[in-house]
Amino acid sequence: MNNDDIVIVSGVRTPFSKLDSAMAAVPSIDLAVIVMKEVIRRVGVKPEEVDEFNYGSCMPGEIALDGGVPARQIGILAGFPPELMSVSIDRACCSSLTAVRQGIASIRCGDADIVIAGGADNMPRVPRIVPDLRTGVRLGNIVMIDPLFALGPPRFSPVARDAGEVAVENGVTREMQDAWAVRSQELYAKAAAEGLFKEELIPVVIPQKKGDPIVIDRDEAPRKTSMEALARLNPVYGSPTVTAGNAPPLSAGASAVLIMTRKKAKEKGLKPLATIVASVGCAMDPYRMSEIPAFSIEKAFKKTGMNVDQMDMIEINEAFAAVTLTSTKLLAKGDAKKWEEIKAKTNIHGGAIALGHPVSASAARITMHLAYELQRRGGGYGLGAICGGLSMGEAIILKV
Ligand SMILES: CC(C)(COP(=O)(O)OP(=O)(O)OC[C@H]1O[C@@H](n2cnc3c(N)ncnc32)[C@H](O)[C@@H]1OP(=O)(O)O)[C@@H](O)C(=O)NCCC(=O)NCCS
Repeated sequence: MNNDDIVIVSGVRTPFSKLDSAMAAVPSIDLAVIVMKEVIRRVGVKPEEVDEFNYGSCMPGEIALDGGVPARQIGILAGFPPELMSVSIDRACCSSLTAVRQGIASIRCGDADIVIAGGADNMPRVPRIVPDLRTGVRLGNIVMIDPLFALGPPRFSPVARDAGEVAVENGVTREMQDAWAVRSQELYAKAAAEGLFKEELIPVVIPQKKGDPIVIDRDEAPRKTSMEALARLNPVYGSPTVTAGNAPPLSAGASAVLIMTRKKAKEKGLKPLATIVASVGCAMDPYRMSEIPAFSIEKAFKKTGMNVDQMDMIEINEAFAAVTLTSTKLLAKGDAKKWEEIKAKTNIHGGAIALGHPVSASAARITMHLAYELQRRGGGYGLGAICGGLSMGEAIILKV
């Protein structure tokens, strides 16, 4: 324990929505305002004490509906002083951990003492785009594009297809992926019933023209399922294995963490939730999306000299079951028993398949979930990793 350590002192998220949700009407910047205010309110930090706000957001179509400078807009709407430095980051699903990593860099180089890092997206609110309306179409049909599904041929292939193919190449079958999806739903349901998401959640209150506001205070997407029900689903996006049941739903949600040095936390009388031991980003062959969390984790291990056996708890984002399973398998380096051990401590309260994946909010979510759970246990090491479109990755190691 060192005064220069970077610690997380607060973490909060909104519930994550399903596709058909009242949250589809709430701009992602407004979801982010909720968590930005709450992450400091909980620990008594004042807006004027925050030096930097790093904000992940990777659904530019949705952001465009409200202006297109999201981090700056959120800081102003949340009542922070105009001097607050802010930056919007798009590193796909990795974005909110990239935001943490940039916060660490700012603190390390003396540009900031206190940083809020987070992210939000509202996938159900992403509008369709009509590209040619500004210039006009002389002949033929006017085409409407759904940017949620735009990453594909001719220049790229859908992430679900790449993830499924690389999983199969690694010996991770459709049946294994469905079994992981059942596990995710069951573990989430158990953990939610035990109240294990309570500390990290703040409700979203949506005023209505008439009557009471709609209050969303829990994740909306979890559902009961079974191997039989999952086996009946057809693969999506041309994937050999990925279905609506072993993929996360399209969600809205926001999350944020507050970071500073241990010295600063002491000065302010704040108890750290967790110490950040390492935070790394990386990228690899865009096709090998299912492998990138393992690749990022290995980079974090190399940096720290640590290994997977030292980790008490692991969160690998369920971009698809294919990703979490392939990456845990790679971490086991061909040892079947070790693979089982690693899986047993991974996503122990379920993951994105159950609770949703509002892409830019997910990395900060898994980070705060590690911190809160290790706090409950009285300490330990937590490892988080996430993949982002076309094989970007982030990993973080926490100590409590
Ligand atoms: C896969 C996807 C297209 C499905 O969207 P959708 O069609 O709106 O999803 P639905 O919830 O309606 O599910 C489709 C069907 O599967 C069924 N289903 C979904 N999850 C199920 C489960 N866990 N168990 C049983 N059936 C399930 C639904 O009941 C529905 O059946 P129906 O057609 O008979 O009504 C969408 O969720 C998606 O794109 N997810 C991936 C998001 C993504 O790529 N994120 C980024 C990762 S990097």
